[in-house]
Amino acid sequence: MKWLADRIMVHRAIALFDRVGRHLPGSGTIADIGSGTGHNAEEIRRNTTLSVREFDVADLHWMGPGPVIFAGGRVPVDDGAFDGLLLLFVLQYVDSPHALLSEVRRVSRGPVIVVQSIYRGWWGRTVLGLREFVWGRLALRVAVGLGVLPPVECPLSPRRYFTRLELHRLFEAAGLVIVKSEPAEWFGLCVSRDLFVLESKANLF
Ligand SMILES: C[S@@+](CC[C@H](N)C(=O)[O-])C[C@H]1O[C@@H](n2cnc3c(N)ncnc32)[C@H](O)[C@@H]1O
Repeated sequence: MKWLADRIMVHRAIALFDRVGRHLPGSGTIADIGSGTGHNAEEIRRNTTLSVREFDVADLHWMGPGPVIFAGGRVPVDDGAFDGLLLLFVLQYVDSPHALLSEVRRVSRGPVIVVQSIYRGWWGRTVLGLREFVWGRLALRVAVGLGVLPPVECPLSPRRYFTRLELHRLFEAAGLVIVKSEPAEWFGLCVSRDLFVLESKANLF
């Protein structure tokens, strides 16, 4: 079973790298904020020469060196420390998405790549709630049950779900400009796992 859980996560990381990889900087150091199991960071290390630093509010890693734990407020690095930054399926869990987006803008001098599920209408909202439960709390319980992770306080209780328009407004309010946006629809389910490449307004103008 551990093997199966690992295969699922590796497969997911490969699929995510397929979307994210082409938007990463060519060299340097990037941050993965809310790095989770560590599979995404490892997949990037395997396919590029980038140095990837992981940060999270809880240690959920079972692949790679693991994250620097921070309280979810200030990322403990200087301004512009990174050449790029990943925020993959994190914004729904944080107290203040605005504060986290402002913080990632502060620490990245390159692209901020966000992948975030969005919904349309009541059906999409219902589907997204179920998806979050399965890929969040249930997946964590299974990982702990299988012994892949030690018992850990669950950081995966969603505080909100976003529509695409709400995300656009959040980015704008945090001083981030959408340079590219690539939806990935779950057909018939009114849910999309949108990818955004963002740049700080200050870097563009
Ligand atoms: C659904 S998991 C996604 C993990 C990984 N990014 C991925 O896509 O595989 C959400 C991650 O966000 C982290 N997280 C929760 N609250 C956070 C916060 N305030 N700041 C940063 N990360 C947070 C969780 O600990 C968890 O690792």
